[in-house]
Amino acid sequence: MHIDILSVVPELLESPFQHSIIKRAQAKNIVNIVVHNLRKWAINQHGQIDDYQYGGGAGMVIRCEPLVNAIEELTKMHGEYDDIIYLTPDGLPLSQPIANQLSLSKKLLLICGHYKGIDERVRTQWVTKEISIGDYVLSGGELPAAVLVDSIVRLLPKVLQDETSALTDSFQDNLLAPPIYTRPANFRGYTVPDILLNGNEKDIAEWRLTNSEKRTNDRRPHLNDNS
Ligand code: ADE
Repeated sequence: MHIDILSVVPELLESPFQHSIIKRAQAKNIVNIVVHNLRKWAINQHGQIDDYQYGGGAGMVIRCEPLVNAIEELTKMHGEYDDIIYLTPDGLPLSQPIANQLSLSKKLLLICGHYKGIDERVRTQWVTKEISIGDYVLSGGELPAAVLVDSIVRLLPKVLQDETSALTDSFQDNLLAPPIYTRPANFRGYTVPDILLNGNEKDIAEWRLTNSEKRTNDRRPHLNDNS
């Protein structure tokens, strides 16, 4: 998979992809993530990429030219994208099914907004998906882009060492994950459920399913609605 990211503050994305699972996925050439500074496509030598809003109002808007010139140049370099995704609070709420679907892509372009956002014409004519990471407003699309990339890349074949572990994550099968424990079996008098210590795989699987269902009903009852 190849992921290009367009950002006005590429520094914000320096660390998230240089550690742990995402770092390993890149080292194994399973994914190639390239962060581009949008100012490379600035409209003048002052590095301008934004402008005032037509109709008035506070906050600058990222102009069409830098975004569309970047999209066209990158498309020429890498070929057509499966999706051009704009991270925005009014986008489709990110969920496990969306991450699962995007993990089947070969090429993605992510656009991080900043200031007030990007010109609507880029959204309607070039962007193919708009994604939000929750109903709250962040200062820009960089952290949402990092969240989206992480949710996708960990699903790619051979990224996780234990091949089955992504399947037992919360939200796969519309269930939250069950409680988990490690040693010691007794910590300050707080003990691990006996059933997890007895080695009976069938009993353990049943206990996990029951507790996944209970946790889902308690915390995310709506996950049952669309199953
Ligand atoms: N940009 C700012 N806030 C955001 C959010 N909640 N999701 C996606 N992009 C954003």
